[in-house]
Amino acid sequence: MSTKKKKKSAQPEEVKKNQSADMEKEEKNEKKDSSGSAAEAVVSSAPETKEERQKELKPEITVEAEGGTMSESLIMVRNLEKHYGSLHALDGVSMNIEKGEVVVIIGPSGSGKSTFLRSLNLLEMPTSGEIIFEGVNMLDKHVDINVHRQKMGMVFQHFNLFPHMTIMKNITIAPMKLLKMSKEEAEKKAHELLKRVGLDDRADAYPSQLSGGQKQRIAIVRALCMQPDVMLFDEPTSALDPEMVGEVLDVMKNLAREGMTMAVVTHEMGFAKEVADRVVFMADGKILETGTPEEIFSNPKTDKAKQFLASVLS
Ligand SMILES: Nc1ncnc2c1ncn2[C@@H]1O[C@H](COP(=O)(O)OP(=O)(O)O)[C@@H](O)[C@H]1O
Ligand SMILES: [Mg+2]
Repeated sequence: MSTKKKKKSAQPEEVKKNQSADMEKEEKNEKKDSSGSAAEAVVSSAPETKEERQKELKPEITVEAEGGTMSESLIMVRNLEKHYGSLHALDGVSMNIEKGEVVVIIGPSGSGKSTFLRSLNLLEMPTSGEIIFEGVNMLDKHVDINVHRQKMGMVFQHFNLFPHMTIMKNITIAPMKLLKMSKEEAEKKAHELLKRVGLDDRADAYPSQLSGGQKQRIAIVRALCMQPDVMLFDEPTSALDPEMVGEVLDVMKNLAREGMTMAVVTHEMGFAKEVADRVVFMADGKILETGTPEEIFSNPKTDKAKQFLASVLS
């Protein structure tokens, strides 16, 4: 894996080389500041309900195939395997994610959820299998992985903001370096996004001056400023104080309503019920069940899913 954590300060060149690795950095010297208001993300005129949104779900790419039209999903994963030495972390995982779909991945600790998510943008190199993202084989040696990785926004449990940079700088550094956005353009976009999460007045603050919930909303904005085609969330609320979970989930719900394609690992079952088009249950590196939230929550089929749901829903 290519993401050994570096402890020294990030320089722009490092960001350029591997933005994802930088995003992984643990933030130091965090101070809690609970002065933040709840997120006031603006809801656009996008579909209001999950059902309305589902009607609009369409495969991203349609290619002419022999004998008819074949649709291609935004992300197609086939037989993904990941071994860590003798540990089989991903055991033949196959999954499609359609454009505009919200997939929530649940399962006990150690089941391979993070490994799966991190494999999608090759933060973790799979041992074998296929990942086709926007028609591009991500594991093809000739593919410039960085170009495609930029199209996948990722939000981790820890916010990984650069402590020595203002919020504005944190948000605009990657679009300016990687997308060659002008400073003006990047800052305009950042202000628009900050307004949507109710934090435009904190643009000049430093991360240490923000609460955990505010920092996570900034981490989401930072990912969005790169104009991703899909957002990957790995337990984005797990490290937050309980009173801050809602403001982050609200931002994610609004993103979903606006049609963002999302893969979300979370233990927030309420969020899954409300927002997920599909819930995927993983255990022991495998997908054991997949279905609508209703199917998975009301009628789990495997003993492992039953046990897991009993423990998290109790
Ligand atoms: N870098 C690593 N090296 C060795 N084993 C790992 C590494 N990352 C994860 N694992 C192991 O792979 C399995 C799946 O981990 P993970 O994907 O983090 O599960 P989850 O996110 O569902 O809790 C676990 O047994 C974990 O200990
Ligand atoms: Mg995990």
